Amino acid sequence: MGYVTVLALHSLLRWGALGAVIARFARALAARGGAFTALDRGLGFAVIILLDLQLLLGLALYTGLSPAVNAAKMDMGAAMKDPYLRFWMVEHGVAMVLAIGLAHVGNVLVKRAADDARKHKSAAIFTGIVLLLLLAAMPWPFRSVIGRPLMPGF
Ligand code: HEM
Repeated sequence: MGYVTVLALHSLLRWGALGAVIARFARALAARGGAFTALDRGLGFAVIILLDLQLLLGLALYTGLSPAVNAAKMDMGAAMKDPYLRFWMVEHGVAMVLAIGLAHVGNVLVKRAADDARKHKSAAIFTGIVLLLLLAAMPWPFRSVIGRPLMPGF
């Protein structure tokens, strides 16, 4: 698969990943004090699968397909002074890998938590942090220099 196809999949899948994280966060808050059900387990699973897929596509872009990352690798010193190249070389990937790592840690803690209230609490804290990181590292169209469309091809 080439750059355009992988970038389009990565761009589309962001909505699935973001939607699953928002749904899990909202559910963890709403279900506070209630039972931890199959819905909670399902949402937790969906978040991990969608984020891991996004990581895979992101790594394919990062390790060869992305023209921005490839250009940055030619001269790292200059790239660090260029907001566009620095975003794709460092900021986006680091924040997203951190978010995905924290989602995994949160998932383990939810599984290990002694009771349902603690499961919801861990889910709320970790998905809340993951959500903030995703929102902060997304190339929203309104962001200057690094802004990208909301859907591929627009
Ligand atoms: C949940 C995690 C992630 C989300 C939501 C996300 C979202 C996005 C979005 C919306 C774009 C722009 C797509 C477009 O131009 O149409 C993009 C591009 C990109 N992402 Fe991610 N991303 C994630 C994880 C990652 C990770 C973990 C890496 C690297 C390890 C990565 C590397 C890249 C690269 C290299 C580009 C393309 C830069 C270029 O066009 O040259 N992404 N990502």
